[in-house]
Amino acid sequence: MKKIIDILTDKMQQAFADAGYDARLGVVTVSDRPDLCEYQCNGALAAAKQYKCAPIVIAKAVLEKLDASVFSSVDIVMPGFINLKLSDGFLTEYLEKMRTTPDFGVEKTGDGKTVVVDYGGANVAKPLHIGHLRAAIIGESLKRLYRFLGYNAIGDVHLGDWGLQMGLIITALKERQPELCYFDPDYTGEYPADPPFTLSDLEEIYPYASGKAKQDDDFAAQAHAATFELQKGRRGYRAIWEHIMRVSVTDLKKNYDDLDVHFEQWLGESDADKYIPDMVEEIKAKGMAVLSDGAWVIPVAEETDKKEIPPCILLKSDGSAIYATTDLATIVQRMRDWNPDKILYVTDKRQSLHFEQVFRAARKCALVRPDTALEHVGFGTMNGEDGKPFKTREGGVMRLAHLIAEIKDVVRGKVIENQIAEDKVESTTAKIALAALKYGDLSNSPAKDYIFDIDRFSAFEGNTGPYILYTIVRIKSILRKYGAYEHLPIQNAANDYARDLMLSIGRFSSCAEFALTSSAPNLICAYVYELAGAANKFYHETKILSEPDSALKEGYIALIALAKRVLETSISLLGFDAPEEM
Ligand code: ARG
Repeated sequence: MKKIIDILTDKMQQAFADAGYDARLGVVTVSDRPDLCEYQCNGALAAAKQYKCAPIVIAKAVLEKLDASVFSSVDIVMPGFINLKLSDGFLTEYLEKMRTTPDFGVEKTGDGKTVVVDYGGANVAKPLHIGHLRAAIIGESLKRLYRFLGYNAIGDVHLGDWGLQMGLIITALKERQPELCYFDPDYTGEYPADPPFTLSDLEEIYPYASGKAKQDDDFAAQAHAATFELQKGRRGYRAIWEHIMRVSVTDLKKNYDDLDVHFEQWLGESDADKYIPDMVEEIKAKGMAVLSDGAWVIPVAEETDKKEIPPCILLKSDGSAIYATTDLATIVQRMRDWNPDKILYVTDKRQSLHFEQVFRAARKCALVRPDTALEHVGFGTMNGEDGKPFKTREGGVMRLAHLIAEIKDVVRGKVIENQIAEDKVESTTAKIALAALKYGDLSNSPAKDYIFDIDRFSAFEGNTGPYILYTIVRIKSILRKYGAYEHLPIQNAANDYARDLMLSIGRFSSCAEFALTSSAPNLICAYVYELAGAANKFYHETKILSEPDSALKEGYIALIALAKRVLETSISLLGFDAPEEM
């Protein structure tokens, strides 16, 4: 379905052309003065310069030619603004079409296209930190948005499972239990099926080992050597690695499940390993890599650069792979297996130089198709109330499970206060807590740092996730009381509040599209907040269930039912959903 804004722009452009002006001037936008009009066109002002003529004269000439069938009023205002209001008939028909078309008639701009969303990025055996929380929340939302607009969207967690942390753990394990068969180079038998450690052992070993490596050079050297040998394929180390993977991936999956974050692919840096040798050979053969202090690097600086972009390191001088190497090899794997039109990376914005280097290197070495887009969505830091990177109450590293538990504690109290049936308290609390957390994060533009404030985020009023849920829950309750409503058509707006609500609903597809092209879930939050506001206003100012005129009442019900569906779809794009009651 064409977006309202496009329908209006088409009509206006036709009028500009018919009046003898450049059609491109006829762009219609949502009004920035909703008290005066609903949509507006400022093209006559721009045309005035081009055609050396008073804007008011141009506006009048355009108006003569305008097909005004979709408008209830077209006003020309000095010095030459064209102010537009939609006709009742047009608006009602449009919403009725939205109501009866799958996904509200959103244009599936991604049909036939594939996008890989690389998000999550947890590091195996290392604690998840706040950055990983943001990567999960923002990435999941973007992936759902792409999928909604028709893309084949593949979410890949891209685990950090091939780095020094593995060598550190192996070394610490060896120090503690040197007798284990994994460390015996002559051992040729099968390795035990059960891991020689538990999840809580692992959680203790990593901080111990990384702390020790900082003070003990010999230990650090051993850990580096172990990492190198693991990557070279040493059997016993590989077996330990597999144990580490099984134990921590099980735990990670649970963490992500609790966040309602789901990946299609659980690949990691290690999966890129097998593509490295051929890729390196190919890049060298193409002459794209040069030796620099023994390391192979790909120069990626360009003349137009305003700041220095250092070369992308392909292999370190000892021949080992680094972060950039695995990212390049992962591109090779993704192109080979999925041939995507776009790869989107969601990480902390402090990695932006890394991705700039990797993207340039990938293009230069033709690892991607020329028309495959590579985009980095870099996000800011989640800070505590002191303005410093967020820590838990105890001040230690953030643990996702604890963070969610803290939010739940705040929310649970309110749920109990609202007398939710006992057997629904936990599931309702979980949904509200997730909405508080995700909306609190997503309502900021990704690149911005923001302050994590549990009390503000979990308030049932204001610009918060729970407020949005509350709006939906309230509509659900009216609909339950009303009875069957699915067949009721949209009617002309019965009052100004209904009209505002209808205008908001009508903007849904523009908003979804714009959020996607700007990689900005915050635009969906802003839309949802506006829509919820309009729905609440309508509800407050209109007697719905007690309306005696049944035809009028049917129109009210059809309208709030559509508002509810659009709200529900919007929050599903943000990654959460509403309970029945709260
Ligand atoms: N594991 C990385 C980290 O914790 C994030 C991975 C992001 N994705 C990527 N393809 N580099 O910083």
